Amino acid sequence: MSQASVPVLTIDGPSGSGKGTISRRVADHLGWRLLDSGALYRAVGYAAGMAGLDLSDAEAVTRCAQAVKIRFQPAADGGDTRVIVNGLDATDELRTETAGAAASAIASIPSVRQALVDLQLSFRKAPGLVADGRDMGTVIFPDAAFKVFLTASAAERAKRRYKQLKEKGVSVTLVSLQREIEARDSRDASRAVAPLKPAEDALLVDTTGVGIDEVVAKVLAVVRP
Ligand code: C5P
Repeated sequence: MSQASVPVLTIDGPSGSGKGTISRRVADHLGWRLLDSGALYRAVGYAAGMAGLDLSDAEAVTRCAQAVKIRFQPAADGGDTRVIVNGLDATDELRTETAGAAASAIASIPSVRQALVDLQLSFRKAPGLVADGRDMGTVIFPDAAFKVFLTASAAERAKRRYKQLKEKGVSVTLVSLQREIEARDSRDASRAVAPLKPAEDALLVDTTGVGIDEVVAKVLAVVRP
C-alpha cells in the first residue's frame, strides 16, 4: 500500500472538545495508528523551556524544533502512552495548561510548524491513521478521506479539562482554566499560519452535553457508514 493510499481520519477542534479521548477510542476501534499532534507542539515548547530559550525567539525555537527527539512509548502497565522528549519522560509535564500555553506560543511560528511536517506525515502507515490536532484536515492531510471537526461550548470544555487535570493530580481552578483555554483558542484561531478552523469538507460535531460513546459512534459512522 503506497503512503498516499493509506486512509486518514482527521479530528480537529479546540482544546477540551474531546479530541484526545475520541481520537484514541476511534483509533482503537478501527485498529489504526494515532497521531496526537498537540503532543508534538507541547514537546517542542517543553524542550525550548528546558533549554532556557525565550519562546518568542523564532530562530532559536525553530532550531530546537528541528533537533528535538520525540518518542511515543506504550506504557508498560497499559496506561497512557508516555511521551519521551530528548530522552526524558515528559508525559506529566506536557499535560499541564502551562505546557499548553507554551505549545500555543511556539505553534504560531511558521518555521516551527514546518519543522514538524515530515514527522507528522510519517505517521501515515497501513492500515490507517487517526490524526488529532488543529490543522490535520486543512494543512497536514488535506487529502484525508475522512474529516471531523469537534466543538463544544467554552464552559463545557473548561469543565472537561478541569476534571481531567484534577484526576491527574494537577492543581487548577475552573475560572482560571476557562480564561486560559479561551486565550489559547483565540490565539490558535487568529494566527496567520494554519489557524484553528474546520476544513471545508469536515463534518462538524458539537459535543456539548453529548456522551463520549455517542460522539465515538458519530465519528465512526463517517469512516464506516
Ligand atoms: O491539542 P493540544 O491541546 O495538546 O495542543 C496544544 C497546542 O498546540 C494548541 O493550543 C495549538 O496551539 C498547538 N497545536 C497546533 N496544531 C496542531 C496541534 C496543536 O498548533 N495540529
